[in-house]
Amino acid sequence: MRIDVVSIFPSYFDGLALSLLGKARESGILDLRVHDLRDWTSDRHRTVDDTPYGGGAGMVMKPEPWALALDELASSASGAAERPTIIFPSPAGEVFRQATARDFAQREHLIIGCGRYEGIDERVFEYAATLGEVRLVSLGDYVLNGGEVAAMAMIEAVGRLIPGVVGNPESLVEESHEDGLLEYPSYTKPSSWRERAVPDVLLSGNHGAIAAWRRDQQIERTRVRRPDLLGD
Ligand code: ADE
Repeated sequence: MRIDVVSIFPSYFDGLALSLLGKARESGILDLRVHDLRDWTSDRHRTVDDTPYGGGAGMVMKPEPWALALDELASSASGAAERPTIIFPSPAGEVFRQATARDFAQREHLIIGCGRYEGIDERVFEYAATLGEVRLVSLGDYVLNGGEVAAMAMIEAVGRLIPGVVGNPESLVEESHEDGLLEYPSYTKPSSWRERAVPDVLLSGNHGAIAAWRRDQQIERTRVRRPDLLGD
């Protein structure tokens, strides 16, 4: 999979050289490229923003650098059979969920455009739709200073679903949200610690009983912490 990220703060993404995603990049499973939007400006100050039409607080990202960046990146993955999926992190977008991560993990080429300030000129989204499928995606109902942190979260959630990135694929099945429930609690040695014992069933060796207990724990936790996921 290829992912191109466009940002005015490319160094935010330095952390993606670490851990599992760093290894996936080294091995070529994940071709992640981070670009500076200012490389597509042509004025001396490398300007990417301007005042909003109609007035109001803050600045808006200019359309021209975005269009040049998208033109170049949408056409550069020449081996790709599909048009790219162009993602703009935005608090005004659809909510990013595990199902969204699974959907994006199937795609050949993602382009992620990170806005800053009061956002990007609206016409950029219309133009991007001529180059690929556009998705405005929100991390949740709160406001970040820009799209970078949201993009990092999405890249990690999507990247770990690419076959070969997570060593033991079973660990992908047994985690929160994969089956619509929260994950069951985990314990390791020692079996008694600071007067707290590991639940007996986990030491019983009875695999059926362990599976049933874990399932009950998942349902109970979800009921208490995230009743919205149960939808009843
Ligand atoms: N940019 C600013 N806030 C955001 C959010 N909640 N999700 C995605 N991108 C954002």
